[in-house]
Amino acid sequence: MKRLEGKTAIVTGGGQGIGRAISETFAREGAIVWIPDFFPDRAKATADAIQASGGNAYADQVDVTKEESVQAMVDRAVKKLGRIDVLVNNAGVDILKAMEEMTVQEFDSLFAVNVRGVFLCCKHVVPHMKKAGKGNIVNMGSSAGYIGAPFQTAYCASKGAVHQFTKALAVECTSANIRVNAIAPGGVKTSMLDYLSSEFAKKGVDINAFSNMQLGGWATPADIAAMALFLASDESRQVHGAALQIDGGLTAA
Ligand SMILES: NC(=O)c1ccc[n+]([C@@H]2O[C@H](COP(=O)([O-])OP(=O)(O)OC[C@H]3O[C@@H](n4cnc5c(N)ncnc54)[C@H](O)[C@@H]3O)[C@@H](O)[C@H]2O)c1
Repeated sequence: MKRLEGKTAIVTGGGQGIGRAISETFAREGAIVWIPDFFPDRAKATADAIQASGGNAYADQVDVTKEESVQAMVDRAVKKLGRIDVLVNNAGVDILKAMEEMTVQEFDSLFAVNVRGVFLCCKHVVPHMKKAGKGNIVNMGSSAGYIGAPFQTAYCASKGAVHQFTKALAVECTSANIRVNAIAPGGVKTSMLDYLSSEFAKKGVDINAFSNMQLGGWATPADIAAMALFLASDESRQVHGAALQIDGGLTAA
């Protein structure tokens, strides 16, 4: 028996990186995966790869910062799939800048994706889960929601907000039988980490020198997908309102 057999899942930002690995893992475990990304070509590439290996996936476009866009995406997913068992709020962005150099527009745009996006997707999916009498939400937090990271005040604050949003929504949704959790990865080898490496390099810092702070070095997207699979499956039925660290010990010190 596959671990997500017969379940339906939305994975935002599933076009690349961690979201792509989660989409592929869920599909391999029997889920039908709806993949909305800001860039439709990325979403299509993930869905095509899943279908090519015998899985079930649909590509879609969304801007998680915009309510009309999120509502329309959720409507399309429900119309096609019938119900949403799992929502993974994975889409996220980072901006590496000294606090006093960050513009208000940059600060707001980061929060719009990382925090408002999580709120909007939950807002429009939860009513369908309530109607179904069950549901499961996994939000992408970060070790940056637990500890400070230089030149990432907005990002750290946004991920701390995701962790607290997760806990508050979990408490609110207990009676609705909807589980809500967050994942807090450390450094993961994706294009986001490439971006951070090149921005830090401009400041004379080689962040790859810090990869040994994590057991085994930087994580892979597949490492994070394994945690998402655990949270999305019934094996974690008693895990609720948690922001689970998967960071090779980065935040343990
Ligand atoms: N890579 C890391 O080291 C790391 C560590 C901790 C947490 N995270 C978190 O994991 C998540 C995925 O990160 P990643 O490293 O795979 O990044 P990534 O940049 O490789 O992928 C992010 C995806 O989100 C999509 N996206 C961005 N803005 C969007 C929007 N407005 N609407 C819809 N989709 C949008 C992008 O198109 C992209 O496909 C993010 O929430 C990130 O903050 C990453």
